[in-house]
Amino acid sequence: MNVKIRNKTRHYRTVSFDAAANAVVLIEQRLLPHRFELVRTRDFRETTAAIRDMVVRGAGAIGAAAAYGLAQGARAFRGAGLAAFERHVEKVFKTLKEARPTAVDPLNALIEVRRKMAAGQTIAERQAIALAAAEHFADEDVAHCEAIGRHGAKLIRTGTRVLTHCNAGWLAFVDVGTATAPMYAAQAAGRKFHVFCDETRPRCQGASLTAWELAQQGIAHEVIADNAAGFLMSRGEVDLVIVGSDRTLGRTGEVANKIGTYTKAVLANRHDIPFYVAIPFSTIDWDMKSGHSIPIEERHADETLGAWGVTRLGRREYVRVANPTSGARNPGFDVTPPELITGIITPAGIFKPRELWRNRARLGGPR
Ligand code: MRU
Repeated sequence: MNVKIRNKTRHYRTVSFDAAANAVVLIEQRLLPHRFELVRTRDFRETTAAIRDMVVRGAGAIGAAAAYGLAQGARAFRGAGLAAFERHVEKVFKTLKEARPTAVDPLNALIEVRRKMAAGQTIAERQAIALAAAEHFADEDVAHCEAIGRHGAKLIRTGTRVLTHCNAGWLAFVDVGTATAPMYAAQAAGRKFHVFCDETRPRCQGASLTAWELAQQGIAHEVIADNAAGFLMSRGEVDLVIVGSDRTLGRTGEVANKIGTYTKAVLANRHDIPFYVAIPFSTIDWDMKSGHSIPIEERHADETLGAWGVTRLGRREYVRVANPTSGARNPGFDVTPPELITGIITPAGIFKPRELWRNRARLGGPR
C-alpha cells in the first residue's frame, strides 16, 4: 500500500519480516488513523500477543503474521536434535494458533508452513524452509487480492454506491485487500464511485481503518453509523455491498465475518441489493460442516461499553459510554447463510456460495 504521511509517499506491506533481526514487522493498527507507526515483535510470543491484542488484525494479515511467527519461532531454536526441534515447533504452532479463534487464515498458514518444513533433512534446512514458506504465504496473499480485484472490478461502474463493513482492505491483508480490491481496480480503470464505510462498532474498523485507506487512495467515501445502512438502502442509496470474511465454509457456503455482516446481508436481501463476499483461498475452511461449529470470538465487554478516540490534544483515550453499572456481550463475528449471498469473489472468479465445494480443485481445496 502507498501511504502518504507529511507529503511523503512510501509503499508498505501490513506485515513483513526482518530476517537479520528475526523480527516480524507490523503496522500498529490500533493507532490508526491518528498515528502511523511500525512495530517489531522480537519473538513468537510477542507476535502472538500482537495478533491477540489486535496490533495486527484482519484475516489475511493475521495469517501472514502467524506464518512469520512460526518461522521466527523455528529460527530462534537453540537446542540440539530434530526431535527437540519438532517439539519446539509444535509449541510455537499451538501458541500462535490460539491467538484468535474465528479467522481460519492463521490456521491454514501455519499448517502450510509446517507441512513444507517436513521436507528439510536438518534443523537449518527446516528453519530456512519455514521462512521461505512464510514469505510465499505473504506473496500469495497479495497475488490473490490482486486477482480478486480483476474479477470484482466489473461489479463497480461509474456512479455505483458501494457499502462495505469493517475493514477488509490493505490493512486486513498483506497488501491490496479483498473487499477493497475491486474498488482499487475500478479506480485504476478510471471509474468514479462512492463508498459507504459502516463504522463497525464496537472497534470501529470501518470508521478508522477503511475510511483512512480510502482517503489515502483518493476514493470518495463517507462513514455511516452501523444503524444507518437500512435507511440508506430503503431510499435507494446503496447499489452494492462487498465485505470480506474471516472463515468461509467450502462445504456449505456459510460466511463468518465481522459482527454486523449478517444484519447487512438481511437488509440487502430485503432491498434486492447484490451482496458479495471477497476472499482469498486461505479464508476457506474445507473441513467444517456447519456454520454453527465456527468458533466465534467473544471479546472484552469494555469494547462494547465504551470507545477509543483521540482528544483535541492528540492523546489516545478510552471513554466509557454505557451506564457504569451495566455489563455487555461482545461477540466479534457472525455467520451469514449462503442464501443471502449473491456471490463469492475469489482469485479464481466469482462463484455462488454453494458452488465452492464443486469447484474446490480450482479454489485450492482438497481433491
Ligand atoms: O476483528 P478483525 O478486525 O480482525 O476482523 C476483521 C474482519 O472481520 C473484517 O470484516 C474482514 O472482512 C475480514 S478480514 C479480511
